[in-house]
Amino acid sequence: MKIKSIIKDYYLEFVDNALGKKGKLFSKLKYGRLFYFVDKNVYKLYQQKLERFIKNDEFLVIPATERNKSYSKIANYYKELIEKRFTRNDILVTFGGGVLQDLSGFIASTLYRGIKWIFFPTTLLAQADSCIGSKTSINFDKSKNLIGTFYPPDYIFVDTAFCKTLTPEYFNSGLGEIIKFHLMSDVEGYTLLKKYLICPNLRKNIYFKTIVRSTLNIKYSYFKGDEFDSGRRNLLNYGHCFGHALESASNFAVCHGEAVIVGMGFANLLSLKRGIMKQQKYNEFEDIFRQYYPRFDISKVSVKDITYYLKRDKKRVTKDLTMILSQDIGKQFKFNDIKEKELIQVYRDFIKKYPG
Ligand SMILES: NC(=O)c1ccc[n+]([C@@H]2O[C@H](COP(=O)([O-])OP(=O)(O)OC[C@H]3O[C@@H](n4cnc5c(N)ncnc54)[C@H](O)[C@@H]3O)[C@@H](O)[C@H]2O)c1
Repeated sequence: MKIKSIIKDYYLEFVDNALGKKGKLFSKLKYGRLFYFVDKNVYKLYQQKLERFIKNDEFLVIPATERNKSYSKIANYYKELIEKRFTRNDILVTFGGGVLQDLSGFIASTLYRGIKWIFFPTTLLAQADSCIGSKTSINFDKSKNLIGTFYPPDYIFVDTAFCKTLTPEYFNSGLGEIIKFHLMSDVEGYTLLKKYLICPNLRKNIYFKTIVRSTLNIKYSYFKGDEFDSGRRNLLNYGHCFGHALESASNFAVCHGEAVIVGMGFANLLSLKRGIMKQQKYNEFEDIFRQYYPRFDISKVSVKDITYYLKRDKKRVTKDLTMILSQDIGKQFKFNDIKEKELIQVYRDFIKKYPG
């Protein structure tokens, strides 16, 4: 897959046994040295293979926490690269999920005003969604992704076998984004999603690679021509306005993609209440979400905290709140007129319906 970007065109390749193919994957590249950022859990799980891959190169093991993806923490990572005399001739290589991607991408875009960067996504969310689209972000205080740049990796190598070791919660998190993209596609995409979800063993059923590819293609269709997120790409925030607020308000007890599933459920309820979505559609989509809603006592999250974080949402442009509402498959619309009172009312109903 070649992805066109205003910043630089880049490439995504599906690879089996990526950790056994360093020579082949890097053969076309010219570089001085390689420096690796490796997710701590990935390092533990794949240590022998990773050490063979990394060999004598320098590396840093980083825990994938939202707190580490922060303004205050990234100084340590710049320091490490600068002290190890990383140059613009060298390449930063990242193994990890969206957290490592966001912080590596931010560093890659800013260190020396841009360095070469290769990404091996190891979570379903990063493989099917975040690895393309060029967004890099770090958090500020407890608010998500407030600081960021647009800077894609030069190459992305996707080995779906990494998903076998994900915890159920992080597999579901990737699934949340996969569901979102297919609800934003068309009848064909929705049919593929339903076929995929009813098969046993979601990590390696016959549709697994197809659904990951399909998700990437749907995402590309949304940001092609709107890389900097000023128009159609905004719609991809379906489930995210409420989702990000829930992540922050729950102190990140709910992981990103699972919060997106809850966010879509909330946006659909608001769409239903406003008469944008029909009851039958609402029930149909809710049946899908219910299978993947995180087990979490949502009533512990106060509506006051949710509105506090919604007010800090970077997509908000008026004094009211912003949210992407939905009518049907591929029919999502941005609303900038959500009143706090309306949100509080819908939140009360949502909590009552949320599976305990
Ligand atoms: N840049 C973008 O376009 C974009 C898009 C969506 C989300 N994001 C960001 O991505 C982050 C979420 O990413 P994520 O869901 O990939 O989470 P993550 O990076 O936090 O990884 C989730 C967990 O899985 C572990 N892990 C990673 N790979 C593993 C593997 N193969 N086997 C076992 N465990 C593994 C990690 O150590 C971590 O504990 C959020 O910070 C979100 O804001 C960015």
